[in-house]
Amino acid sequence: MKIGLIFGTRPEAIKMAPVYHQLKKNNITVKVILTGQHKEMLQQVLNLFQIESDYNLEIMKENQELSELTGRLIIELDKIIKKEKLDYILVQGDTTSAFVGALVAFYNKIPVGHIEAGLRTGDIYSPFPEEINRRLIGTIADIHFAPTEINVKNLKKEGISGNRIIKCGNTVIDSLKWIIKNKRELLKNIREKYNINNKKYILLTMHRRENWGKPMIEVLNAIKDYINKKEDLYVVFPMHLNPRVREIINKTLKNCKNKILLEPLEYLEFIAIMEKAYYIMTDSGGIQEEAPTLGKPTLVLRDTTERPEAIEAGTAKLVGTCYKNILKYMELLEGKLYQDMLKVGNPYGDGKTSERIRAYLQKIESEGKI
Ligand code: UD1
Ligand code: UDP
Repeated sequence: MKIGLIFGTRPEAIKMAPVYHQLKKNNITVKVILTGQHKEMLQQVLNLFQIESDYNLEIMKENQELSELTGRLIIELDKIIKKEKLDYILVQGDTTSAFVGALVAFYNKIPVGHIEAGLRTGDIYSPFPEEINRRLIGTIADIHFAPTEINVKNLKKEGISGNRIIKCGNTVIDSLKWIIKNKRELLKNIREKYNINNKKYILLTMHRRENWGKPMIEVLNAIKDYINKKEDLYVVFPMHLNPRVREIINKTLKNCKNKILLEPLEYLEFIAIMEKAYYIMTDSGGIQEEAPTLGKPTLVLRDTTERPEAIEAGTAKLVGTCYKNILKYMELLEGKLYQDMLKVGNPYGDGKTSERIRAYLQKIESEGKI
């Protein structure tokens, strides 16, 4: 069995890493086809998880537009897929790399397995363009590796037959647990390096396209005004490399007192900082999944989420992006709400998702049908 893994951004690499190692460990031939949609942020993850690629299209350009990225990727991925005789192609999540990977696999009649299938907000512009990417991948895919029961239901509602859906958790928990188990000592040293071991800090990340402009400005202004009133509270903000995001951050947080602006952190470093955060504010998908494992209350800086499980479990709140609401929730977290949200648990997986994916692929291979 020869399996192609197509991916190209930081979160896909984090979530593909355990699958890559599971397949390799079981002597399955793996071809890693990187789109290079991300560059530095992808490389950090490849190094940490020791992923060796067979191809890297190095497609990234500064400030890339979606249409151009999509167009160039279709042409370049097609050449590789035509050359390699793959039995299955696996894509992860909802990025442009994942969508184009699935599309080109379909053009070449290669069955597609979708990891992290069935996440939906119901709003095609939120997150943008990810909601459409994952719906389109869902239409193309032959096998749907769905993290949770809610994801399974979403897929069934769209008419996907139950025997093509495998409920298996999210591979991000496999990665997170691997780090916590194998790199525990390093985590402590990292916090010392950033001089935050004894500080009380909120961990912030923001990068989504639909938040560019007014939503991001309002959120950052609220955080700045709140932090400036406090003596001992810091905001730690590892910034995405996107120049459009950085421009807003630099302008809006210029007069914010206790801010620690950082370059994108290596995954290991990010987990170390997440572990000791007072709470998290984020518009990230992956961080919404990791935070409950670490028992971190999370304010989700978006109007919609495809990950309602943590909200239902009470560890996360969907707070939108309007100035007043952000301030309101930051103030509420000074009181009882904080204790209510301090729960450890994980609706997204048990750390064995990649094993289930590998086992399912071996099963269909031996049975000769999906
Ligand atoms: C992409 C995904 C998004 C995912 C995010 C994870 C799409 C449409 N979006 O969004 O779903 O949540 O990755 O981070 O697939 N850049 C660098 N170096 C890097 C990475 C990015 O300089 O290593 C800069 C480049 O100028 C690039 C820009 O960031 O053009 C935007 O990258 P892009 O992949 O288009 O969008 P993201 O916001 O990263
Ligand atoms: N992450 C990281 N370094 C950072 C910020 C985030 O390694 O500086 C990790 C984080 O732990 C999570 C993933 O990157 O696993 C989320 O990536 P991102 O927020 O860019 O994308 P999304 O999950 O929203 O698609």
